[in-house]
This record gives sequence, structure tokens and C-alpha cells, in this order.
Amino acid sequence: MSSVVRGSQLVRLLDRWQSIRGPAGTRLPDYAALAGTVRGLVRDGRLALGVRLPSERELAEALAISRTTVSAAYRELRESGHLSSRRGSGSWTALPEGHRIATSGMWAPTDELDVIDLGCAALAAPPELTTAVGEALADLPRYSGGAGYHPTGLLELREKVARGFVARGVPTHADQIMIANGVQHAFDLILRLLVSPGQPVLVESPTYPNVLAALQAHRARVSTDNLDPRTGWDPDMLLGALRSGRPTLAYLIPEFHNPTGHLMPVSLRERLPAAAHRAGTDLIVDESFVDLPLGAASAPAVALFDRNARVLTVGGMTKPYWGGLRVGWIRAAAPVIARLSALRVAVDMAGPVLDQLVAVRLLDRADEVIAARRIQLAHQRDALVGALREYLPGWTFTVPAGGVCLWAELEAPVSTALAHAAHEEGVRLAAGPSFGVAGTLERFVRLPFTLPEDDLTEAVRRLAAAAANLDHSHPRERYAPALVA
Ligand SMILES: Cc1ncc(COP(=O)(O)O)c(C=O)c1O
Repeated sequence: MSSVVRGSQLVRLLDRWQSIRGPAGTRLPDYAALAGTVRGLVRDGRLALGVRLPSERELAEALAISRTTVSAAYRELRESGHLSSRRGSGSWTALPEGHRIATSGMWAPTDELDVIDLGCAALAAPPELTTAVGEALADLPRYSGGAGYHPTGLLELREKVARGFVARGVPTHADQIMIANGVQHAFDLILRLLVSPGQPVLVESPTYPNVLAALQAHRARVSTDNLDPRTGWDPDMLLGALRSGRPTLAYLIPEFHNPTGHLMPVSLRERLPAAAHRAGTDLIVDESFVDLPLGAASAPAVALFDRNARVLTVGGMTKPYWGGLRVGWIRAAAPVIARLSALRVAVDMAGPVLDQLVAVRLLDRADEVIAARRIQLAHQRDALVGALREYLPGWTFTVPAGGVCLWAELEAPVSTALAHAAHEEGVRLAAGPSFGVAGTLERFVRLPFTLPEDDLTEAVRRLAAAAANLDHSHPRERYAPALVA
């Protein structure tokens, strides 16, 4: 499965390619500068793997350089393993030893004392949890006289979730909702239903690491659509990847994307479901962060534009309320929900009744809990942004307009080394490559702002110390191309 980058799109990405320098600041011939910049874009994850590059002639015209220079650059990229070509069909971006999903998938919180944990992007429980648990206990006798198995979830919770969609303008009946044990569980159930080993699945790059782990477990064939770190989705690239790759499934996070924080524009939401339908693709839309705009206006749900029952929306209690509840949901066509709950018999039978009752009671207080969360997160985000500007002014980022994460671009592709050095300084950090396929995204780190403001400021101070130590051992090189002798 492949998508295509046009000459004009690649020119935009290449930016000031002629200004890159070789080791010790030497000037490079144009072909080497061009090859080195493309290699950097692939490593950084700005140019997805498996993307077909423009023909030599098209790129030469778009860059106003000779075709010989582009030929030499493509030859160098082929030799270094960053391009694979088939005579007569074109050239595709690649990585030297092939590629695989990078993440271990394990982003559980750490128990180490004195380590500030920036690996986990989740908040502590809200104070309302205790009251909700008390009320749920009092509600339990309504269920404890029965066997307690509700594979689709408690009707009262499904009705409440359905009302939430209706309030956002998406007509939804309770039989279109299934309750799962968190969003990750919902995703796993959907994969069991819709994807067989070897089938193609499209995800954003970067994306949520544990979804990559689930795709790996299901032996799906993963391809990526790259998000621009500053601006987010390129509609032509995403719709083109659907059209040309015809994936079985695409997984997208349009609501304050994890890890970049971007909100998908309305014009792309409107076009997505029809494009997916034409490609024969089912779309999983992850709305984990939909309740957490921090200044940005919310956008209409992708499901609102779905005329062909192609969209499966997943969401849950984890991000706005508490991950310890393990309550999430799927909104889909009623027959799909019926098949998903039948399939559950082979997995976990049903979810815990008590936790679902707690979720009902917390959703009763949605207005107050969510309002407080948004104020808390906005303060924490501002503290993180302030600390980064003070202690790490060379890092660049777009201030997220919602969600819980900031995606920072480093001054060099050293994210993994930085994560190791940060651990020495007492900060646990998720390096960029965890959010994509191996060998990419080394220029980025994800910084969640789910911890208290003082912890975030201290974490950034420690990161600055770790980065300064790295600077001593690795001189900075911008997209330094490997020399091919
Ligand atoms: C985008 C996204 N989806 C799903 C999850 C997992 O949610 P849950 O804890 O409900 O399984 C997370 C948690 O980090 C997330 O960021």
C-alpha cells in the first residue's frame, strides 16, 4: 500500500535543503544536500514510509534544478536504503533494514520514587470520584440480584453515552453503543472483528503507541499518514493514502491528537467518511480527548458526516475522568455493536457492573468535572510552555489547543538518547520513535501536561540538564547526511 507525494508537496517539505551542511560544516554538492534532506525527512517521520516520490523530471522542475542532480540524489538514497525503486513504476521511501513497529507498547506509570513521570499522559482521579463510588455502591442492589453479565454494557450507561452524542448533534440510540473496559479494549475488540493478519491498516504518524502495539499483536500491515508537527493533517495526503492504499481499517485521532494536540479541521472531517467508503475502509475515530478543548472551539464529530456506517467512534472515561475506571465505549451501527458484543464472549464476557455505575454517577456531574479539568489542564499546559521557553528555548512546538500533550521538536534527532539521559536526571520520557515506526521521529518528544505545575517546571529543568549533557557528547548536526563513499 502506498501513497504519493507530489513535486509541489515535496518542495514544501524540503524547505531550505540547499543550506544543510556536511560534517564540520562543509558545503555539500546539491545532490548530497537533496539526498540528506530527504533522508532527514524520512527519519523525522515528516515523510512517511512507503510514499512514492515524484519522478526525477517532476522534482527537477519543481525545484528548478537539473534532472542529473535529482538522479544522483535518488541514486544515493537507493544506495543508503532510504528509497526502493522498481523500474517503470517509481521510487518509494524506505528505511535501511526494512521497518517494524517501534513501541514496546508499555506506557504504564512508573513506581520509582523521585522520578517525574512524563511517560504517561493521564490525570489523577477527580475529587468527585469518591462520592460517585459511594452512590454506585448504593445503586448496586438494583443489579446484584441478577447474574451481572451485560456484554453490551449497562443500559443506563449506554443511554447516557448515547445522549452525549445526541447533544453534539449526532443522532444515536443506545443500541448503537457498547461499553468496553477502556478505549484500548474497544480497539482490540474492533480489530478482532474487522482485521485479519496481513491486512493493511492506516494510522497517523505519530500516533498513540499502544494502538501500534495492538496492531502488531493482530499482525496487521501498518502504513502511516504523516502529520506535520506544526499544522497537522495534509488533507491531500490523507485522502490520497485512503484512495491508493485501500486499507481495511484506518485509525485516526481527530480530537486533540495524541501526541501532537492537533484538532482536525472541519473541511477534512466532512470529506473523510465518504473517502473511506469509496476505498472500502472502516474508520476508527478515537475521541479520547474530545471533552478537553483548552481555548479552541470544538469541531463537529466525524460520525456526523458518515452516510455509509463506515465510522466506529471510540471514547471513554480515561482522559477526562480517570484511567483506573477502565470504562470506554464504541459507537457504531447497531448490527456492528451486536457482533462486537457477541465476540466479547470469547474475550472477557462483560465489564464490571460497579465500575459502570461509577461512570454513570460521574457522567451525572460531567459539567462540573470537565470544567475543572479544563481549567487545571490549561494552567498546567501554560506552566509547561513557560518552562520550555525559559529552559529549552531551542525546542519548537505548536501550543496545543486541547488534550493533554505537547509535541516538541528538538534541535537534533536525539530523542532516544535524550530519554536515556533524562532518566539519569530523574525524568521518565516517551521518546519520539515510540509514536511511529522504527527509525523515525527521532527529532521529537511528547511532553504531557497531566502533572502538577511545579512538577512540570522541575521536569523541564531536568530535561534541560540532560539536553546540555547530550550536547557535549554529540555535536549538533542538522539532517547530517551519511557519507556514501
Ligand atoms: C488516543 C488514546 N486512545 C486510547 C487511550 C487509552 O485509553 P483507555 O485507558 O481508556 O484504554 C489513550 C490513553 O493514553 C489515548 O491517548
